[in-house]
Amino acid sequence: MDKPEILINKEKIADCVGRLAEQIREDYRSKDFLMIGILKGSFVFMADLIRALQIPMELDFIRLSSYGSGKESSGKIELVQELRTQVEGRHIVVIEDIVDTGISLNFLLGYLAKQNPASVRLCALLDKPSRRKMPVSIDYLGFTVPDKFIVGYGLDCNEQFRFLSDICIINEN
Ligand code: IMP
Ligand code: MG
Repeated sequence: MDKPEILINKEKIADCVGRLAEQIREDYRSKDFLMIGILKGSFVFMADLIRALQIPMELDFIRLSSYGSGKESSGKIELVQELRTQVEGRHIVVIEDIVDTGISLNFLLGYLAKQNPASVRLCALLDKPSRRKMPVSIDYLGFTVPDKFIVGYGLDCNEQFRFLSDICIINEN
């Protein structure tokens, strides 16, 4: 596999995280809210986002799996780790690394809706709209990316490259 090529460098990521934090802070500063991070890909983004936010919130994580391995979504979503926090009546902000086909988020938003939250909004660092199969409305979006496989800043390819500080592209060969 070729060396990953930088698409969005760490300085641009930091600016973007600051901008998203400002928007979320404005909307949630006087609300009791629960942030739900989708593991594993969102953990680096979420760690930076909560420190940029500088307002109190409760956190929980959910783990979904759609990629058995490699780069193609299987289309079948598995709930690998459930939430422990009660969702009913709460304001929820879901944190996702990248929206690709939209299948995972449709599954998750359906799962949350069944638990009667007060509200649900979605914050996604990256959007890859070219491959969408199900519509997803993103309330807080970082960057739109081309139809390439993205790694770094928490995103992986076969569990590799999560540690990279920049958002990078893996070139097919
Ligand atoms: P979706 O259900 O196809 O929208 O897939 C969403 C999940 O697939 C994301 O949360 C990522 O974990 C993973 N994914 C989709 N595209 C990429 C990519 O380019 N790089 C790394 N992971 C990706
Ligand atoms: Mg993910």
